[in-house]
Amino acid sequence: MALSSFSRPSKLMSVLSTLLLAMLMSLAKAQSPRETTIVFYLQDLASGPNATVVPITGIQGKPQSFTSFGTIFAIDDPITETPDKRSTQVGRAQGILVASSLSGSNVHVSMSLAFTNRYDGSSLELQGTSRQFERVKEVSVVSGTASFRYARGYATLETVFYDNKTSYSVVRCAIRLLLNST
Ligand SMILES: *[C@@H]1O[C@H](CO)[C@@H](O)[C@H](O)[C@H]1NC(C)=O
Ligand SMILES: *[C@@H]1O[C@H](CO)[C@@H](O)[C@H](O)[C@H]1NC(C)=O
Repeated sequence: MALSSFSRPSKLMSVLSTLLLAMLMSLAKAQSPRETTIVFYLQDLASGPNATVVPITGIQGKPQSFTSFGTIFAIDDPITETPDKRSTQVGRAQGILVASSLSGSNVHVSMSLAFTNRYDGSSLELQGTSRQFERVKEVSVVSGTASFRYARGYATLETVFYDNKTSYSVVRCAIRLLLNST
């Protein structure tokens, strides 16, 4: 009687600790970040009444351009699924670009990808320096909201089409993300 009343709690303890271990293991699994790649295209028009990237200010007396230090642009590019501008739109790339190097080589990017469609209501924050004369530029993904909470990673930007008459370009944007699956 005395023995069994002592052995019961210890059996219970071992069952409980096994359960606890299993719970901790599944928690650890759930919290390990998973890696994801998302690719889409920015439709970027820099001229005309429907321009999606527009200089808003700069240094007085200096030209306003991506190579003229101090020029600030507002951007609102459609994001599409494929390079074709008529393909499904999945959001807008909205924010500011600043000609940020005296030498004219770098542009500071501070941009939100505001998603609709598949990731409706979610966003990603891109930030960093775009070495604009490199074929492939790379900026950081510093955070996100909704589906992309706690996201971090990087985005590569590559111009895959450019029409110099209208200053229209299509930019391939490949995003590599670590997401916490909480
Ligand atoms: C600008 O957009 C409007 C509305 O979509 C369109 O009707 C117009 O033709 C566009 N203008 C140019 C120059 O593309
Ligand atoms: C566009 O590029 C072509 C070929 O390189 C060049 O001849 C033309 O002057 C350019 N047009 C503009 C508006 O820059």
